[in-house]
Amino acid sequence: MSRRRQIYEGKAKILYEGPEPGTIIQYFKDDATAFNAQKKGTINGKGVINNRISEFVFTRLANIGIPTHFIRRLNMREQLIRQVEIVPIEVVVRNVAAGSICQRLGLTEGDPLPHTLIEYCYKDDALGDPLVGEEHIACFGWAGHEEMQDIASMAIRVNDFLVGMFAAIDIRLVDFKLEFGRLYDGDYSRIILADEISPDGCRLWDMKTGEKLDKDRFRRDLGGEEEAYNEVARRLGILQNDD
Ligand code: C5P
Repeated sequence: MSRRRQIYEGKAKILYEGPEPGTIIQYFKDDATAFNAQKKGTINGKGVINNRISEFVFTRLANIGIPTHFIRRLNMREQLIRQVEIVPIEVVVRNVAAGSICQRLGLTEGDPLPHTLIEYCYKDDALGDPLVGEEHIACFGWAGHEEMQDIASMAIRVNDFLVGMFAAIDIRLVDFKLEFGRLYDGDYSRIILADEISPDGCRLWDMKTGEKLDKDRFRRDLGGEEEAYNEVARRLGILQNDD
């Protein structure tokens, strides 16, 4: 039964028009993609867990003063969010070498980085979200100078908070991706955190065993994706089936 207008369907989420102007309903699917959607599959129950984990994380980030699009969770798979204009930049924060930076720079997975690194990718599926520098962002006007200052400082604050939050449950936050949006108030806009934070967009390693508790299980055909996502939720103290 579809009673709402669908605004957008992405790889892992669907956006519907919200009940009030300026709001959107974000629906979390079980679909999983990797390598720019060349690999497709489903992780049973992923949408339910990611909805809960993202709610948990965004609520805590709001508590430390990070403005986010999250308003409230509506049900098992949906949350109400503020409508924003997404900045077309994927912000990747890295604490430990893994994934694409290893291929690009010849690093070994697990190498500690000398310090936290922020990378930017231009959001364009057809181009495979290429890595870009701040020069490209300024040159093509994807975000303004002050917006980029806000984005970088929020990304570092989010990282500092999440590193500690996950360390407390014996999980190493290796890297993760953030997206930001412009929240308009008349002609004026400000940058807020958007999208989601979940094991889909983070690398999370068990501190004791090194076991991967994130989408790399799907990317690399390691199996046990559902168990890994559930384990992250369990350690965060998020109960299942308590809607
Ligand atoms: O693939 P790469 O190593 O660049 O990914 C870095 C981090 O950003 C990983 O945690 C990955 O899950 C996340 N990411 C994402 N969506 C993308 C690209 C990366 O969530 N399109």
